[in-house]
Amino acid sequence: MRFAERLRDSSKRHGSRIVLALDITGPQATRAERAESLLTEVSGSLAGVKVNFQLLLPQGLQGLAGVAKICAREGLPLIADIKLNDIESTNLETVEMLYGGGFDAVIANPFTGHNEGLSKVIARAKELEKGVILLVYMSHAGAEEGYALKVGEEPMYMMFARKVRDWDADGAIVSAKSLDIIKEVRRTLNPWQVILSPGIGFQGGEADKAVKAGTDIAIVGRTIIDAKSPQAMLRELNLSVTDS
Ligand code: XMP
Repeated sequence: MRFAERLRDSSKRHGSRIVLALDITGPQATRAERAESLLTEVSGSLAGVKVNFQLLLPQGLQGLAGVAKICAREGLPLIADIKLNDIESTNLETVEMLYGGGFDAVIANPFTGHNEGLSKVIARAKELEKGVILLVYMSHAGAEEGYALKVGEEPMYMMFARKVRDWDADGAIVSAKSLDIIKEVRRTLNPWQVILSPGIGFQGGEADKAVKAGTDIAIVGRTIIDAKSPQAMLRELNLSVTDS
C-alpha cells in the first residue's frame, strides 16, 4: 500500500484530518518523554504525526524509538520533516536510517532535482511502502521569494506540483494560507496523491478553509501543543473540518 493511501486510511479510522507537528521545545533531556506523554494523550484523535529537528537533533533516532513505537501501535503514520535536499548518496543513506528507525515518510525539497537527487529515494520508498512528500509552497512569508518566482510564464510552485505528479511522489506540502495555490495544486496532482498543509493557527491559516480548497491533511503544531487542553483543541480542529 502506498503511503498516501495509508495516511488517508489512518485519517478515516481516527476521524481526523490533523497531523500533529510534535515540536516539543524546552529542556532537551526530557523532550522525548514529553512528546510520548502528549502523544499518548491525543493519539486517538490524529491522522498522523510529524517530527522535526526540535526532537530529531537532541534525541536522535534511538531517543525517538518510544515515539515511533506509539505511532506504530496506534497505526499513525510518522513523518520526518527534514526537508531533504542533498545529493543521491546522502539522500539514500538518510532515508534508509529514517525508514529503519520507524519513520513512514520524509519531506523533501524538489529543488534537489530527480536525476541523482530524488529519483532513487522515491523508488526506494515505494519498494518499502514508505513515503516521500515534496515541498510545493511553504507557509512562511518568505516563501514567495522562492516558491512564487516565475519560471518563464509560471510560478515555481506549479513546476513543483507537476514534479510531485510526474515523479510519482506521495504528495505535496502547500501552505494552508494560500488557498488559491492549494486549488491549483489539487488540479495538477493525481487524485490519489495527498496535499498536507501547515501554517494553521499560529501562522494564521485555518484548517477548514484549507480542506475546502483541496487539502487532505492539516499539519498543526503549537496551536495544539501550547493549548491548555491539547485534546480539547484537537476536538475543535477535528470538528471544524468534519463537514469540509
Ligand atoms: P505550527 O506550530 O506553526 O508548526 O503549527 C508547523 C510545523 O510544520 C512545519 N512547517 C512546514 N513544514 N513546509 C513544511 O514541510 C512548510 O511550508 C512548513 N511550514 C511549517 C514547521 O517547521 C512546524 O514543524
